Amino acid sequence: MNKDEIKNLLNSMTLDEKIGQLYQTIYTGSANTGPTFNTSNVIIDLKKGLIGSILGLCDNKVIYDLQKVAVEETRLHIPLLFCNDIIHGCRTIFPINLAMSCSWNVDLIEKASKVAAFESSHSGVHLTFSPMLDLTRDPRWGRVMEGNGEDPYLSSKLASSYVKGYQQKNISGENAIASCAKHFVGYGACVGGRDYDSVDMSDTMLYNFYLPPFKEAINSDVKMVMSGFHSYNNLPVTGNGYLLKKTLRKKLKFKGVTISDYNSVSELINHKVCKNEYDAANLAFNAGLDIEMVSDCYINNLKELINNNKISLKDLDEKVYSVLMLKNELGLFENPYGKIYPDFEKYFLLDDSVTTAKEVASESIVLLENDGTLPLNKFNKTLFIGPFVDEKKVIGSWGGKANFNDTITLKEALDNKKYNYCYIENYINKDCGIDISEVKKYDFDTIVYTIGETQSESGESRSKVDLTIPKIQDQLLDELIKLNKKIILVIFAGRPLILTKYKDYFENKLISGIVYAWFLGTTSGEVLIDTLYGHINPSGKLSMTFPNSIGQIPIYYNRNSSGRPFKENENNEYRLRYIDCSLKPLYPFGYGKSYSNFEYSNIYLDKDIMSKKSKIKVSCNVTNNSNIGGKEIVQLYIECLCGKYVRPIKELKGFKKIYLKPKETKNVSFYLSYKDLAFYVNDKLNYDYGDYLIYLGPNSDLNNYCKIKFIEQ
Ligand code: BGC
Repeated sequence: MNKDEIKNLLNSMTLDEKIGQLYQTIYTGSANTGPTFNTSNVIIDLKKGLIGSILGLCDNKVIYDLQKVAVEETRLHIPLLFCNDIIHGCRTIFPINLAMSCSWNVDLIEKASKVAAFESSHSGVHLTFSPMLDLTRDPRWGRVMEGNGEDPYLSSKLASSYVKGYQQKNISGENAIASCAKHFVGYGACVGGRDYDSVDMSDTMLYNFYLPPFKEAINSDVKMVMSGFHSYNNLPVTGNGYLLKKTLRKKLKFKGVTISDYNSVSELINHKVCKNEYDAANLAFNAGLDIEMVSDCYINNLKELINNNKISLKDLDEKVYSVLMLKNELGLFENPYGKIYPDFEKYFLLDDSVTTAKEVASESIVLLENDGTLPLNKFNKTLFIGPFVDEKKVIGSWGGKANFNDTITLKEALDNKKYNYCYIENYINKDCGIDISEVKKYDFDTIVYTIGETQSESGESRSKVDLTIPKIQDQLLDELIKLNKKIILVIFAGRPLILTKYKDYFENKLISGIVYAWFLGTTSGEVLIDTLYGHINPSGKLSMTFPNSIGQIPIYYNRNSSGRPFKENENNEYRLRYIDCSLKPLYPFGYGKSYSNFEYSNIYLDKDIMSKKSKIKVSCNVTNNSNIGGKEIVQLYIECLCGKYVRPIKELKGFKKIYLKPKETKNVSFYLSYKDLAFYVNDKLNYDYGDYLIYLGPNSDLNNYCKIKFIEQ
């Protein structure tokens, strides 16, 4: 339909039908927080045109039946919009998003999102509530697993990969779905890492750190934005006009549809900013929220609010128009059943999709330590032990349409490869003690010990205060160490855990390596075995800083300069420090090892003066000094030596992932412009003329730099 036809449709709608377009419900009515419609009510209300979209369905048959009611049995035949949380894959499950972000591979993440879109569009899903673009600095927050880590630059690049992968050239395309960026905004900064707790931050923080990924998603034409559950500077985002209108619409120029989070309009009452649902609908509507998810404040109150002149018909029409336009762009008016394939399972787990999942998983693993024991020698006998060796639940939270039986475990991968290994079944779990004499019955050279948290310990509402490995797993490690064999730890987790003890063990040669496996999805076991045995060379680098101790949290590399900075080898008594812990993280942002050995040399600037009219070329040579080909992520950071306002001690402004053959050297270059030096002061972009340091290297903990001068011209 063209715009005029959509306008005509809008003009022919009753008030109830318009309000219905702003209502998203779930179908089962079984959830205990909020939904009031049970299955039969959905059908009754749907027939009256009171429902615009449905959340959570991935079942084609049901989707088809509901769409048929919407199209054939409603007065105006307006199709439904089906939305779902396809976050890291639909049926072919990719690593959790935090793991994927450690690949720093923008093309690969776009490819992964394409696979997710392909599988979900064939399942009848029109829109995914992804990507989650909340910056995360606090691993106590269980939702860090859904995001891209702590850095606005990396997260922005990946935001665009996700949106492009889902939406492709045209969201009406057979294999595309629309994308919803969430949770606007600052949700990751919840106090104490407690999910649903409040957030307070300055505009300077908001504009420099938390908004850029959303800005990038909007530049990539993301179709929807979801508000977060949290309150932001004392006003819940669901009813926060400063964020939803002034920031999102005016500053970021977002033209698409906004949606609340699950039940969050009615939660305005729990926040104690509204007395009842009438007030909640009023606040959210006028703050700029288009669709209400699951709770029914709009559907029950908008009419009265209009009659009482609390909200305007013009505003209602604008919101409904944008929902209809989204449906139109998806091609739903012409082809409401277009994406509903009766044989949708045929499109799941196709060879190409699984290959992409393997590629992503292989680049998501982060090798934290290795004394040379890795890669393992396949002729040696290795004992595989620990709770994750034959565990299929290693896909992580928000598993889409996952079927755990698809997951290949480590044990299954070992069996397929016919490697020389032994394995002690279900040897350790939370309730089971340790009997090391059982282990001693076996003869082996090396131990791969899988430890970590279970996949249900991260995700929404999974905040934790203890980020250490369960005691029982530690106790077994201490017993294994007494056997005097080489030990490799493979750690499964949805967040950075506290690994200080294991780093000490490594430094004291008690263990030989640490592999951070996150939750890798469908191909987990295969990819890990290929990595442990050297068919895959790890190339992931941390997108979140790993703390030394829980007390260091929140910890992130791009913190502000202090008036009393800590200085190595000096008396730091009255300087920024902890008296009982180092200030340094355990592993810095950007860190990760490889089986190759990369060396940086010849850092070079083509000039050292920059103006608004000129760019500086920064380059260096990277050499692979090893006999193993591998990928390296070259990172560029800047440091402003004197600005009008305090700035971060380092800011990532570029990265490139390159492949180097054994002994190969490549010249890697970046172009820096004045835009890379900009910094927001409140909501205004600001340029600090003066000196900057430019760092190029393998992670954020860099000391060698070149200096440039940014001059006004
Ligand atoms: C989550 C959202 C999600 C929504 C719909 C909420 O609980 O916070 O991220 O998109 O549910 O499933």
